[in-house]
Formats: sequence, C-alpha cells, structure tokens
Amino acid sequence: MTVKLSAQAETKVEEYKKLYPNVRSAIMPALYIAQEELGSITADAITWVAEKIGIAPVQVMEVATFYTMYYKKPVGKYHVQVCRTLSCALMGGRAITECVKKRLGTAPHEVSPDGQWSYEEVECLGSCGTGPMCQINDHFFENLTPEKLLQIMDRIEKEQPDLRFSAVRDALGEGLKGYPKSEVI
Ligand code: FES
Repeated sequence: MTVKLSAQAETKVEEYKKLYPNVRSAIMPALYIAQEELGSITADAITWVAEKIGIAPVQVMEVATFYTMYYKKPVGKYHVQVCRTLSCALMGGRAITECVKKRLGTAPHEVSPDGQWSYEEVECLGSCGTGPMCQINDHFFENLTPEKLLQIMDRIEKEQPDLRFSAVRDALGEGLKGYPKSEVI
C-alpha cells in the first residue's frame, strides 16, 4: 500500500503538476515534498511520487539518485554537505571536511547518536566563488575556515534554527541570524 502523506502535501503536489506543460517536471518538487514529510527519500517516497506523477518508480529513482539534495538515507536534524569540487578544494575544502569529521566523530552518512548531525562530501553546489563552502540542510555557509564552521555548528546546536526549505510553504526556514549568505562572521 502507498504511504499516506498529509493533505497539504497532496494539495501542493497537485498545484505543482498544473504549473508545467509536462507533468514530469513536477517530479523534483514532489520529491522535496515527500522528503520533507518522510525525512528522506525512502522506497515509500519513490512510490508516492511515481503514483502522483503517473510514471514508473524507476523514473523517479533516476532523478532522486542524481541530485545530492535528495537524501537517500536518513540524516540528522542538521545535515552538512561539504563541497569537495575543484574551486572549494583549492581554497581548503578538505580542511572543512576534516573539521566536521573531527567534531562529530562519525563517518559520512552516519547520524550522530543524539540525532542532531550527519555529513557527507558532495560535488559542486554552485557557489564556487565563495569557497570553501558547505550547505547545512538548505542554507549555504560560505568563505569558511574550520574555526568559522565550528562557531556556526556551536550556534546551530544552541539556537536550533530551522534551516530547511519547505516545498509545501515554498519558503526557507529561519536561518541563523548574523550569518547571511556570503557573510560568514
Ligand atoms: S566548487 Fe564548491 S561550490 Fe562549486
């Protein structure tokens, strides 16, 4: 049986389907909606999206596995994606990954025992001029140094901000005040 998502999610995906000349274009927002409710792109999420769009699950899987913003495994409340591609790597991206690894003491894709954190390295996030950078949930943190990132993670733990994009509300959550895009400390 297909998993049941909220009435809000059902309504929103129907709205997205009407937005595009080809209904398949709604796969991506529908995946976001499913991820928002289920926490990650589970087999149920794939089935739900496939049924809503009217395509085969494998076609949804093709999209979900291509993009790193769709979490294929459960993640912590805060999921850190460190860019490892060339521009960021040249600016010290490796030190950023090492810093996250050391602070959390976990392996990539492993959720910390308190459920707060997980991390992974990803390819270019499209912010190459402000590397090294990372994305925590759906917010960018740029021009990083290990020290800056540690301060940001400390603040996140303390303030517990909402850093997620809501596909249902079409809005970003509440960011970390004092850390607007490109102006880290
Ligand atoms: S190389 Fe890191 S954002 Fe593009």
